[in-house]
Amino acid sequence: MYDEYKMTHNHYDTLTVLAIESSCDETAVAIVEGSGKVVCHEIYSQMELHAAYGGVVPEIASRNHLIALPRIFHKLLKTYSTITNKQIDAIAVTSGPGLIGSVIVGVMFAKGLAAALNKPCIPVNHLVGHALTVRMTHKDVDFPYLLLLVSGGHCQLLVVHGALNYETLGQTRDDAVGEAFDKVAKMLGLGYPGGPIIEEYAKNGDRYAITLPKPFVGSDSCEFSFSGLKTAVYKQIALAKQSHMFNQRFINDVCASFQHTIAEILVDRVCMAIRCCSVKHGVNNFVSTHNAHDNLHTYHQRKQYNMHKTHCELHNTENSYFDHIPTATMTKSFAVAGGVAANTYIRDILENTVHSQGMRFVSPPHSLCTDNAAMIAWAAIEMIRHNPSLLTYKQLDFFPRSRWPLSEVK
Ligand code: KG4
Ligand code: ZN
Repeated sequence: MYDEYKMTHNHYDTLTVLAIESSCDETAVAIVEGSGKVVCHEIYSQMELHAAYGGVVPEIASRNHLIALPRIFHKLLKTYSTITNKQIDAIAVTSGPGLIGSVIVGVMFAKGLAAALNKPCIPVNHLVGHALTVRMTHKDVDFPYLLLLVSGGHCQLLVVHGALNYETLGQTRDDAVGEAFDKVAKMLGLGYPGGPIIEEYAKNGDRYAITLPKPFVGSDSCEFSFSGLKTAVYKQIALAKQSHMFNQRFINDVCASFQHTIAEILVDRVCMAIRCCSVKHGVNNFVSTHNAHDNLHTYHQRKQYNMHKTHCELHNTENSYFDHIPTATMTKSFAVAGGVAANTYIRDILENTVHSQGMRFVSPPHSLCTDNAAMIAWAAIEMIRHNPSLLTYKQLDFFPRSRWPLSEVK
């Protein structure tokens, strides 16, 4: 009854969701309110357990989620003993994509909890969690917005049209950005996770010391590729070892050059995505009508423009392609999310780029860029807003998924 009252009165701000995240090597629980207030979030990181292997070992991860999840859940209950069962409206859980054994642990725990408390259990896509976090931390980010999602498993440029409506502009053909950081750190013998370690060493290095390839830079798509860059770093390391130059200075230089190259690649691809959005969605004023043709990069975009021009000439109508794009789809904000968004160097460069293009730059605070359960709770809140009947649906008929692209969320 309480749930129905909230639904009918649109009192989403008072919604309270308890969420569980266990898709990779972080075990996390959180309670978040519909207003965006993070009541609490607890994270247990398994980093140290995986460090010796230079990456996450799936079997070790799932076994440790089994141990850690009940522990941090009890810690949460003890710390926040004032929160009663009655105040929780729903349980949310990451049900994919991720390491399947790890996802299963979280899903089973959440289902058990939901059954015992007689609450709805909402399956959340982990990527949706990353994608929507900026709307929890920055209340005025409206749909649609442009998103660069850079994590350990993903590298994508998307237009977020709605909580469950994603348009992919481009993605990586091979490694994810975080994965490239982790692999380069492993090659250098620096440990896991690679991102924060490389960022630290890079502070003492020369970003121009080593020239590395920038796949796809200058191309007219929004795609990425990082495996060639990783191989180039591998070759530099082999050469340095051969010539006895593999010392601290070299390591710092590799870190700085690698990080800077990644930043340059991301900047180029982001500019391309902004241009692409200008044409497809009418992003504010980057492309004025008189020089629009010069800025239309892909064959498809040029063809669309020319077809439109011909149509206008034939029908003697307004000769501006952009005047015909509905303003309702204007994209004003650019968001970066996922673990790599915690990198201050990359974040700052992206922020300058995005500002120079006249767009607003938003990103969650560092602690909410890497995996956490608050983003899963918030995603569930957005899903409830989109479909209030989720609050009354008490079936536990969903499955953990290892693969679940954003194009398949609904
Ligand atoms: O989003 P996330 O916590 O987990 C996935 O969904 O994958 O991202 C983890 C990834 C790791 O590859 C890690 O090396 C990278 O994010 N990462 C960073 C930084 N902090 C974490 N990469 C670059 N710089 C950082 N400061
Ligand atoms: Zn993640």
